[in-house]
Amino acid sequence: MGETLNASELLNLIFSYITKISATRNHDEIIDILANMSRELTGADRCTIWLVSDDKKSLWSKVAHGIDNIVIPIDTGIVGCSIAQREKIIIDDAYDDDRFNKSVDLKTGYRTKSIMVVPMHNEDNVIIGAIQVINKNNDGVFDERDLERLLLASTYAAESIESALLLKEIEQTQSELIFTVGSIGESRSKETGNHVKRVAEYSYLLAIKYGLSKEEALLLKEASPMHDIGKIGIPDAIINKPGRFNDEERKIMDTHAFIGYKILKDSTRRILRSAAIVAYEHHEKWDGSGYPRGLKGDEIHIYGRITALADVFDALGSDRVYKKAWEDEKIFQLFKDERGKHFDPKLIDIFFENLDDFLNIRKKHKDGYNG
Ligand code: C2E
Ligand code: SIN
Ligand code: SIN
Ligand code: SIN
Ligand code: FE
Ligand code: FE
Repeated sequence: MGETLNASELLNLIFSYITKISATRNHDEIIDILANMSRELTGADRCTIWLVSDDKKSLWSKVAHGIDNIVIPIDTGIVGCSIAQREKIIIDDAYDDDRFNKSVDLKTGYRTKSIMVVPMHNEDNVIIGAIQVINKNNDGVFDERDLERLLLASTYAAESIESALLLKEIEQTQSELIFTVGSIGESRSKETGNHVKRVAEYSYLLAIKYGLSKEEALLLKEASPMHDIGKIGIPDAIINKPGRFNDEERKIMDTHAFIGYKILKDSTRRILRSAAIVAYEHHEKWDGSGYPRGLKGDEIHIYGRITALADVFDALGSDRVYKKAWEDEKIFQLFKDERGKHFDPKLIDIFFENLDDFLNIRKKHKDGYNG
C-alpha cells in the first residue's frame, strides 16, 4: 500500500479496523489488529506495539511484524526514549541516530531506516507503552500527516488495550470464581480435591469430540463445575451420611438439581445460563428414567448429557462418604451396560474411542491424598 490515502479511504480503513477490534475479545488479537491498523494508516513496512511490563523495567512486544515476543529494557532505544520523554519521535535514518539500538536488527537481519514512535498513555495519563512504525514505504520518510494518523491510532489503541486488559482480568477472576463456587457443592458433600476440575476437562473433551464448536466447548468447560451447586441447599446430615440413602433422603437429595437451576437461571451471563442447564439436567438419563423431569434422549440438552457422563465417570472413580472408588473395569462395564440407558450412546462411543485422553486427564488432576 504505497499510495497516500484520501479522506474517505482513511475513514473506511479506520472504520473497518474498529469493527474488527470490537468483534474480538482476545488481548493478543487486539494488539495484532492495532499493529496492522497503524502500519496501514502510516504506510509503514512494520509496526511494533510495545507495552510497559508490570514491574515498569522493560518493554515487551508480543506481536511485531516479522519478529515475535521481544523484551527490551525500558530505557533503551528510540522507543525507550520516546517513553521516558513522553515524546513523539520521527527519524529519517535510524543508523544516523545514536539512540537507536541495533540489537533487534542484528537479531533479525532487518535494516531499519525510517522510524516514527508515539507513546501511549491511559486515561490517567500513565504511559502504558508505545507504537513504533518502521520504514515508510518506497524508501520514504514519515511526515506530520503520518504522525497525526499514528497519534489517532495510539489514542484508540491505548483505550482498546486497557479495556482488553481489564476484560482479561475480569475473565480470569470469573474463571477462578466459578471453580470456587463450584467447589462449594463439592465441599458440602466432602468430595475431595479436584472433582469439579476433572468434570470440566472431561466435559470439554466430550464436547469437542461430539462436534460442538470450540467456543461452546469452552463455555461448557466453564459452566460444568457448577453442576452440583444446588447441594448447598441440602442438609449436612443427608449429604454426609456415611451409608446409603433411604427413600426419604434420596428424595431430598434429588432436589439439588432443581435448586441449582433456580439459583442460576435468572442470570443474563452466558456462562451462568449454561450452568443453569447443566445443574438442571445433569441427572437426566437418556432412556427417560432420570430426574428431576424425566427428560429423554435429545430432549436433554447436550450440556446435560455430557456433564452426566463426566460426573458419573468421576464419581465412580472416587471415594465418597457412602462408597469406595470403583475399579476401572467395573466403571467401563457400567458404561457399556448403560449405553443408551443412562447415557447418550454417541457419548459413550466417544468415551471409549478416546479412553486414553480421559485417563490422562484423571492422572493430571489426581486428588492429592490417594496419589
Ligand atoms: P456423586 O457422589 O457425585 O455421584 C454422582 C452420580 O454418580 C450419582 O448420581 C450416580 O449417578 C453416580 N454414582 C455415584 N456413585 C455410584 C454408585 O456407587 N453406584 C452407581 N450405580 N452410581 C453411582 P445420583 O445417584 O443422582 O447421586 C447424586 C448425589 O447424591 C451424589 O453425587 C451424592 O452426593 C449423593 N448420593 C447419592 N446416593 C447417596 C447415598 O447413598 N449416600 C450418600 N451419602 N450420598 C448419596
Ligand atoms: C528501537 O531502538 O527503537 C527498538 C529497536 C527496533 O525495534 O528496531
Ligand atoms: C447410587 O448408587 O448412589 C445411585 C445409583 C443410581 O441411581 O445410578
Ligand atoms: C446446543 O444447543 O448448544 C447444542 C445443540 C445440540 O443439542 O446438539
Ligand atoms: Fe449432582
Ligand atoms: Fe458431581
